[in-house]
Amino acid sequence: MRPPKTVFVCQECGGQQQKWLGRCPDCGAWNSLVEEQPMPQSAPGTNHRYGLAGGGAPSKLYADIEISHTPRVSSGIDEFDRVLGGGIVPGALVLLGGEPGIGKSTLLLQVAAHVARSVGPVLYSSGEESEHQIKLRGERLAIGRAPLYLLAETCLERILEEIERLKPALVVVDSIQTIFSARFQSAPGSIGQVREVATHLLFAAKGRNIPIVIVGHVTKEGSLAGPKALEHVVDTVLYFEGERHHAHRVVRAFKNRFGAASELGVFEMTGTGLREVPNPSQLFLAERSIGKPGSAVLCCIEGSRPILVEVQALVGSSTFGNARRMTSGIDQQRLALLLAVLEKRAGLNLLGDDVYVNVAGGMNVDEPAADLGVVAAVASSVRNRAVGSSTAVFGEVGLGGEVRAIPQPALRVREASRMGFERCILPAANVDLPKSDRPPQLELVGVRTVDEALEALLA
Ligand code: TYD
Ligand code: MG
Repeated sequence: MRPPKTVFVCQECGGQQQKWLGRCPDCGAWNSLVEEQPMPQSAPGTNHRYGLAGGGAPSKLYADIEISHTPRVSSGIDEFDRVLGGGIVPGALVLLGGEPGIGKSTLLLQVAAHVARSVGPVLYSSGEESEHQIKLRGERLAIGRAPLYLLAETCLERILEEIERLKPALVVVDSIQTIFSARFQSAPGSIGQVREVATHLLFAAKGRNIPIVIVGHVTKEGSLAGPKALEHVVDTVLYFEGERHHAHRVVRAFKNRFGAASELGVFEMTGTGLREVPNPSQLFLAERSIGKPGSAVLCCIEGSRPILVEVQALVGSSTFGNARRMTSGIDQQRLALLLAVLEKRAGLNLLGDDVYVNVAGGMNVDEPAADLGVVAAVASSVRNRAVGSSTAVFGEVGLGGEVRAIPQPALRVREASRMGFERCILPAANVDLPKSDRPPQLELVGVRTVDEALEALLA
């Protein structure tokens, strides 16, 4: 008998090669090919490997399709519901990614317990921890009595059997990288297995209308381990962000078929699990350095919600001749661009200086509206003059040094006023708000250029 033919699959992009190569010709990744068994082909005329959700029904006329309004299931945590677009949709496949130890299992155990209590049986299947370990965590979270079923299992077929038997209201699969399908001979965590397992779970979710949440690990580079391909399979991709050394965590929707993407939920890790933070601005401004140069309060929008954060900058002369530019929380390239604008258009000399920029509290801000905040913080540090402590700022900066309009100014202005700010520096094109959107205690200062902005901020 001939030995089974093997293929070499790139763990980055999923491309298949006939022989091993040092570099994947499809995506260019080095040393990413791993030997795998090819997928078994189903013979023509037989059932497909995956159970088809529709059972081979003919196509339907658009007008004949009835929309059944199945209500969403609340996860019991408002911030998590918000990220999901208003609760868990029956039949949805959700992927929750994040670095190890950030709190994925904790959050999902809390959600599982709530759904078990309020809706019905929940299956929590873990390939990483024993039932005993999960229960120990559950005790810290004070879960109490609920029809929550734990399964320490790595075999996909066993998990599918349990889903069939229990008909749960929610299924949690902790870490897709540890689960393998017995019908597919590759190591757990390889791209072939991960894709196979995800596809089977997708059909289980759609076929039985059960929501399934899967946990995915994130690699050091920040992508979901191996399978970028997974993001196409699932309905919703959520990322858990935050620094291990900070107590608060952010869950961000990266893709959502049932709600707005880039929606954001804020949590705090406590001794008894994750607690939601309904007022993130307050949290992010809690330790603000008032009256010190190099700090500006920025009003950004995450999803549908405005959040005030502090941008800090430190500019000092460089010792070694090659100036360092370091950022945390904003894009380094964007900082380089803004520094160039400050040099050319506002006459700041930064050539021989180290520039460090940090968004306090570990938040990531990638909106162009953050530009003016960064510019203000850097200029404030260079000129050693503080920005007024009750001033907030937002606006996009163009290469010509012009300050450009940004979306949803009313929402930002309202949040600044709610947090007690008295002055807001914003793009001139955004300053004419309807009277109803104009908070009475807030002075709005419209600016056209970076020069004007710095004049208003640091005069
Ligand atoms: P965990 O949910 O196991 O992370 P993940 O599944 O993403 O790998 O959470 C791990 C961290 O959370 C761990 O370092 C301990 C901490 N933690 C608390 O601070 N309080 C708690 O109540 C729990 C359960 C965990
Ligand atoms: Mg875990």
